[in-house]
Amino acid sequence: MLTEFSSRVLDWYDKHARVLPWRQPPGRGLPDSYAVWVSEIMLQQTRVETVIPYFQRWLVQFPTVAALADAPEQAVLSAWEGLGYYSRARNLHKAAKRIASDYGGQLPADPAQLRNLPGIGRYTAAAIASIAFGQDVATLDGNLKRVFSRVFDVSAPADSPAGERVLWALAEEHLPPGRAGDYNQALMDLGATVCLPKNPLCPSCPLNQLCQARALGVQEQRPVMKPKPVVPHKLKGAAVIVRDGKALLKRRPAEGLLGGLWEFPSAELDADSPERLAAAIETEYRLRVSPLSRMDEVRHAYTHFRLTEIPWRCALIHMPEDAPLEWAEVSELSNYPMGKVDRAIAKMVGNG
Ligand code: ADE
Repeated sequence: MLTEFSSRVLDWYDKHARVLPWRQPPGRGLPDSYAVWVSEIMLQQTRVETVIPYFQRWLVQFPTVAALADAPEQAVLSAWEGLGYYSRARNLHKAAKRIASDYGGQLPADPAQLRNLPGIGRYTAAAIASIAFGQDVATLDGNLKRVFSRVFDVSAPADSPAGERVLWALAEEHLPPGRAGDYNQALMDLGATVCLPKNPLCPSCPLNQLCQARALGVQEQRPVMKPKPVVPHKLKGAAVIVRDGKALLKRRPAEGLLGGLWEFPSAELDADSPERLAAAIETEYRLRVSPLSRMDEVRHAYTHFRLTEIPWRCALIHMPEDAPLEWAEVSELSNYPMGKVDRAIAKMVGNG
């Protein structure tokens, strides 16, 4: 149904839609489904400005589903390096192989079939189906939750099952048939540029006269979120072992945090000391090292913990024959995909 809400949203989008490389301007037909899919995966947890250069390079390097399906995993992870949440890249790659084998290289248009692909949940399936295939399906991401929570003054936590039920129902209730893709993207843009988390620009908002939270003066308190658990802080040490122009690296297991990426041998420490590092590295890798000099520590905030990692240049005393480690030319470290922390260490070593 075209409600007062959706008609205002669509009128605003016709004038203010952001120009983005994976989009067609409103009313100019449907964009390429592969490009929409890649953009939606990159945009999960990552800002538009960060995504744009990655998206553009990606489409040059992997222009089609088939090109992505045929690429080596290391190339896919390298192209993703810096975006974080690397399971997104591994799932894109897996899904490309499935789309190539099961769907002749064309993304399916049906949200239920999209949802069966790795890395595609309810939000992403609906975003792709509406934006790339013109299907009448509503979606809901963080930006949309904020807009609906404010306009309809939803006080149930937006990240609780009860709140999500209310918010999905609102998104569906106001969906304008035939323009779902524009409606969804309009709400994404409104959330990103006007209905900001802090200091929303209510005077410029097309929904300001409908906005119940604004009428009550509680817009900054919406959406309500569940209290966040305290994030633990981990201390790690890394052994930077360089010999004959080669550095000792380990490839992380394929699944899980930073899966498939390379790192310097490292271990969690209960205290910042070279003796603890040597002991922990021996326990973890059966590698005997002698720490020589402390390098600059590297900090990073992951979703579930904060990390301080202290790299030490170490001499290698003994390495078992079957150690799961590899010597990498220091001059080629930039070709080994790494997370932010290990890339910072690689840069200190000389080439990253
Ligand atoms: N965030 C997630 N998907 C988006 C899209 N298609 N346009 C703008 N921002 C988005």
